[in-house]
Amino acid sequence: MRILVAGGAGYIGSVLAPMLHEHGYETDVCDLLWFGNHLPPEIRVMERNLFELNDEDLRPYEQVIFLAGLSNDPMAEFNPARNFIENGALPAYLAFRAKQAGVRRFIYASSCSVYGYTMHELYDEDSPVTCGYPYGISKLGGERGVLQLAGSEFSAIALRQGTVNGYSPRMRFDLIVNTMFKTALTDGVITVNNPSIWRPLIEVRDTATAFLRAVQADHGISGVFNVALDNFTVGQVADLVKDTVEEILGQKVRIVMKNVQDYRNYKVSCERAKTILGFAPKYSVPQMVGSLINNRARYSNFEDDNYYNIRVFEKIERQGR
Ligand SMILES: NC(=O)c1ccc[n+]([C@@H]2O[C@H](COP(=O)([O-])OP(=O)(O)OC[C@H]3O[C@@H](n4cnc5c(N)ncnc54)[C@H](O)[C@@H]3O)[C@@H](O)[C@H]2O)c1
Repeated sequence: MRILVAGGAGYIGSVLAPMLHEHGYETDVCDLLWFGNHLPPEIRVMERNLFELNDEDLRPYEQVIFLAGLSNDPMAEFNPARNFIENGALPAYLAFRAKQAGVRRFIYASSCSVYGYTMHELYDEDSPVTCGYPYGISKLGGERGVLQLAGSEFSAIALRQGTVNGYSPRMRFDLIVNTMFKTALTDGVITVNNPSIWRPLIEVRDTATAFLRAVQADHGISGVFNVALDNFTVGQVADLVKDTVEEILGQKVRIVMKNVQDYRNYKVSCERAKTILGFAPKYSVPQMVGSLINNRARYSNFEDDNYYNIRVFEKIERQGR
């Protein structure tokens, strides 16, 4: 089977594309390469804007996985108009083109961010979504645009991922566990903006496996699936990162508490992905930190702009790209 990973040169794609290849899928990537290309040579990479792909480009593929767009709140807030185009319109447009071209399944990288600010309840895929900020609204728009195309000849799956963490060849240090790990090492400090806020988390190899399970799912399956390891408060995450760094590296870490209000607070149930896709996450938070420690030689300079999406995006915007 031939698969196109749209936006596959990013943080998740750099783990997912090689995993698909290892499982015997012919895997191509189409990406603007904002963060470079860290993929192995067996993955064919096309440096193109996804808006330019036509039916002929899409016809060879049985499935398309969409990982592109602006992938966090700071990028979305830096240019909300572009955010709504890249996150809301682009997935719907590409899914429409893919369906026209005879692609059989479209898998969309959605986000638990769509849940917004929830109160003390476990949210499943049928719970109301209440996000009122550009990133969440646009991810929901993209998800809805893709899903309403589902039918007997076209499967549409949206994976609402928790925050993804751990090592990828295209590294990011602007994700909760990765950021805490970085400051623990560079400053000996983890800053907790609000210890009681809830977040679902997932390791990057687990999220790649969730996409693999979606690829492998029975053709009749379409719909929305939450994917996460579990739900944690930010305070719990800080303790887990501190304990792991202290235990493995023998380095003392101090936690600094603040009381900053957050507009995102949610915990989700992942039963549907488990029951229908057969998805079972393997990696714990200490193992996320462990992967960052084990791959330490591969990202020596923590301050490289490439590890922070907003820094790269600000440059791209200034250059008018
Ligand atoms: N990382 C997370 O914690 C997380 C959590 C939930 C959802 N998601 C979603 O998963 C997806 C992948 O996340 P990531 O962390 O790998 O992001 P990333 O920012 O590392 O990668 C995104 C990639 O998309 C490419 N891209 C953007 N617009 C494009 C376009 N128009 N044409 C071609 N390529 C384009 C970029 O060059 C980049 O390589 C995103 O859609 C994000 O919203 C991520």
